[in-house]
Amino acid sequence: MTLGDDSEVERDSLFRYEEPIFAREELLDIRHIPGPDRIVGRDTHMQRVANALNPAIFGRPPKHLLIYGKTGTGKSLVSRHVTQRLATEAAKDSVIVRTAFVDCGEENTETSAVKTIAAQLNDPEETGITIPERGLSTGDYYKRLWTILDSRSDVVVILLDEIDMLEDDEILRKLSRAGENSRIERCSIGVIGISNKIDYPDQLTERVKSSFQHDEIVFKPYAADQLSEILNNRKDAFREGILGDDVIPLTSALAAQEHGDARKAIDILRNAGRIATEEENPEVTVEHVRKAKERTEADRFNEIIAGTPVQGKAILLALALLTLMSDESEFSTKRVYDTYTTIVNEIGMDRLSERRVNEILQEQAFLNVINSTRTSRGRGRGVYSKHRLLEDATIVKKVITSDDRFEVYEEIGV
Ligand SMILES: Nc1ncnc2c1ncn2[C@@H]1O[C@H](COP(=O)(O)OP(=O)(O)OP(=O)(O)O)[C@@H](O)[C@H]1O
Ligand SMILES: [Mg+2]
Repeated sequence: MTLGDDSEVERDSLFRYEEPIFAREELLDIRHIPGPDRIVGRDTHMQRVANALNPAIFGRPPKHLLIYGKTGTGKSLVSRHVTQRLATEAAKDSVIVRTAFVDCGEENTETSAVKTIAAQLNDPEETGITIPERGLSTGDYYKRLWTILDSRSDVVVILLDEIDMLEDDEILRKLSRAGENSRIERCSIGVIGISNKIDYPDQLTERVKSSFQHDEIVFKPYAADQLSEILNNRKDAFREGILGDDVIPLTSALAAQEHGDARKAIDILRNAGRIATEEENPEVTVEHVRKAKERTEADRFNEIIAGTPVQGKAILLALALLTLMSDESEFSTKRVYDTYTTIVNEIGMDRLSERRVNEILQEQAFLNVINSTRTSRGRGRGVYSKHRLLEDATIVKKVITSDDRFEVYEEIGV
């Protein structure tokens, strides 16, 4: 029996058996790795990555690489794609190339990064080596890694994604020196570091600068026509004839305005489809795209502030309301504190001290959301701070007031 086919069975209308809009929604999933024919406008970048890795097909050491570029410019995609093709190509001449992938945003210490690399490149049945979650010193994880490398690979390419999130650059030094120090004998290592920060090499210590000789590649933001092509290549995520003519051009134009971010373009297109589905509309229209843009931004901001305590949200809301209700964009701690006080009094929350509020505003967790600057009042009269939202105040307010506790502010400042 095919599900949903059986007219005898009474169906609960709460659930949907047919996807009216999407044919293959997974093509718009951010984790989906598109095949070579769906990668657009990055031929020269792929070629340069391939050139650096080329020696690996002969089992020789590849060049190290640093790849920079803003978010959503295809850095992770191109690196993964080229290393996959490299492994396939090398295997044709019985050269074993393996790849390890570390998300340094998650594994941000030297120990957890080396542990992840060792675990990914290992096969306990083949090597007899295990990589326990804990209990080994960093040095011991390295020792096991060197043995694993020599026993089963000719070349390994280690992708350190979001490399600037690593606490220090010790791992770069060890990986780039492993061959010289005869830690490994057979296997060669190539490192690809990926970062949004163009000034990342300035952070490297002198010791690493000298041992980690590398090429650099910059990924520029996509232009609107490239984004259009990327989206057109995934059009089959939708049922035929469902997308309005202007949907892809508008989505591309909106994403191009904001740093040419392909991830954002794909997210907006997917959300447009979801909104059309929710509205039970037979077509995806430009109106859905506009709503989808707002939803995409709200989703992202939501992710950034997920886990922020309620006091932090009250402070952000204060700053958003001030921004919406005045012509200014920067506010002193005193003004933020006054508005914050009104909010917490109105909704019956505890009130923190002005000092504590100022501290929260300066905290690490708020760095992506708020920019705070300290200004001198003049000689001997101390300093004061000013705070500015980096996110669109409308979005900030929308997300925070979706929390029931702050709902009463939904209509304020519109
Ligand atoms: N040239 C392209 N062709 C097709 N799809 C692309 C292209 N570039 C990026 N994408 C898609 O856009 C999304 C973001 O790309 P990717 O993850 O490679 O960006 P990134 O530069 O690594 O961003 P971040 O710095 O945020 O990690 C992915 O889903 C990817 O499949
Ligand atoms: Mg990436």
